[in-house]
Amino acid sequence: MTSRFDHRKYRAFPVIRKTDRRWPDQTISSAPQWCSVDLRDGNQALIEPMTVAQKQRMWALLVKMGFKEIEVGFPAASQPDFDFVRWLIEENQIPEDVTIQVLVQARDELIERTYESLIGARRAVVHVYNSTSPVQRNKVFGLSQQGIIDIAVKGARKVADEARKYPATEWVFQYSPESFSSTEVQFATEVCNAVIDVWQPTPDNKAIINLPATVESAMPNVFADQVEWFCDNVNRRDSVTISIHTHNDRGCGVAAAEMAILAGADRIEGTLLGNGERTGNMDIITMAMNLYSQGIDPELDISIADDIIATVEACTNIKTHPRHPWVGELVYTAFSGSHQDAIRKCLAQQSDDEPWDVAYLPIDPQDLGRNYQSVIRVNSQSGKGGASYLLEQALGVTFPRWMQIEIAQPIQKESERREGELNTQDILNVFRTTFMNSDGRYSLAGYQVDKHGSQYHIQASVNDGSQMMLVHGNGNGAISAFADAMHKATGLDAQIVQFDEQAVAEGSDASAMAFVQASIRGSRYTAVSQDGDTLTASLTAILSAINKAMIDSQAVA
Ligand code: KIV
Ligand code: ZN
Repeated sequence: MTSRFDHRKYRAFPVIRKTDRRWPDQTISSAPQWCSVDLRDGNQALIEPMTVAQKQRMWALLVKMGFKEIEVGFPAASQPDFDFVRWLIEENQIPEDVTIQVLVQARDELIERTYESLIGARRAVVHVYNSTSPVQRNKVFGLSQQGIIDIAVKGARKVADEARKYPATEWVFQYSPESFSSTEVQFATEVCNAVIDVWQPTPDNKAIINLPATVESAMPNVFADQVEWFCDNVNRRDSVTISIHTHNDRGCGVAAAEMAILAGADRIEGTLLGNGERTGNMDIITMAMNLYSQGIDPELDISIADDIIATVEACTNIKTHPRHPWVGELVYTAFSGSHQDAIRKCLAQQSDDEPWDVAYLPIDPQDLGRNYQSVIRVNSQSGKGGASYLLEQALGVTFPRWMQIEIAQPIQKESERREGELNTQDILNVFRTTFMNSDGRYSLAGYQVDKHGSQYHIQASVNDGSQMMLVHGNGNGAISAFADAMHKATGLDAQIVQFDEQAVAEGSDASAMAFVQASIRGSRYTAVSQDGDTLTASLTAILSAINKAMIDSQAVA
């Protein structure tokens, strides 16, 4: 069988030959006017449309996040949408500063029914649309360009006429040339100008013209050219809010919306996490977080990210991808050892009063309610940085570098053995059994240290099974004096190769942790001990290293 995968079946999207392109030199410096279409476009795309309870939950979230414009349904086409609009109005669910929006096709009877759904609303956007692209004109409607303009103009007139019947409501009119991005831009502008002529908006009473990429069919720079061309040629630009409604067929829904803002648009329609027809609507969370990460107030509260995800999942029955931009479960997690190491170093240097500057973390995960525990996760790819970081957080200490290297090996072995990820408790268990296990032949019962000039003398009582040994030794510090005492008593010469001690962070029972590496009979033994007394912690760590050497020599014997 021959493959049907044949690129010759498709044509390149025609680009606009523009010589006055200005948008590439623009920057975004403030949030656009947001409009959530979760309850309309998002809802229309669900396998199971939202129940009343789900709509109410989604509405509550959108209001809590700070949306000021929310498209709540298509009331003339759906009884549940009609009932939901009535519930919002009759139950006084719409805050003073929030405006609801409803969608309707440019058909008289549907427009009439739409206004009925809105009776009693303080303020509402009536959003009317018809399709304008060549494929819709030629193959779906069988209409000429004039036929499409006539539908739009008739719809616009009906919208204005019906509004006059309900003067108690503050009405805002919105028109969408559906499939704008696939329409010849000159024709799309002609249709919109005809609608604007009907509505006669003013700077104090603006109309909204919404430009949909109903199907995303070109690169986002092409869309930006279309929007810039439109902004330059639309009538009464100062009386029109230019809105953008992109879909994500090529995966560039957010990029296209951002570039459209550069090209002059004022308003963005989209959905939370991008639910919508086919590959979805423009994802407002991603675009808002893109702004936030550039130091721009998104004017939406995304700090409740986990609440947003839980609500969207519960209302749409669609799981959020763990690598979803900004808010996915794994997006602030580093498994790679070099990434973990870099994150750890940068976090240690990051202070609260400086701009955020941490390798591999474009924003502070805490802003979204994520903690640093989840930033670093340990598997067999992780190396030394990650495990040390998690241990340091759990134990309240900072490990010396040599100790970080020591820790890495047993952790790596354990994760290879398990063929999977280790959590903080697993890592603590490995650390304690490898380095803090003081089981063995000797244990410290007591000691006394005296200093004579620069020399230290120690006398210590050491349990050796059922017997008590009294050991004596000298050195240029208490630690070397103890090593000397144990050498004399047991014949085991413990050369201290590494030694560090750390105060344990407040709140812990013990105040000191000692890290010792001793060379005994040609092998290195590392031990860690924690105690309320610094010297006791150090001496216990040395004994623990000696115990390990004893266990090893018994194993060899
Ligand atoms: O994608 C689209 O074109 C729409 C319009 C109805 C605005 O959702
Ligand atoms: Zn849409």
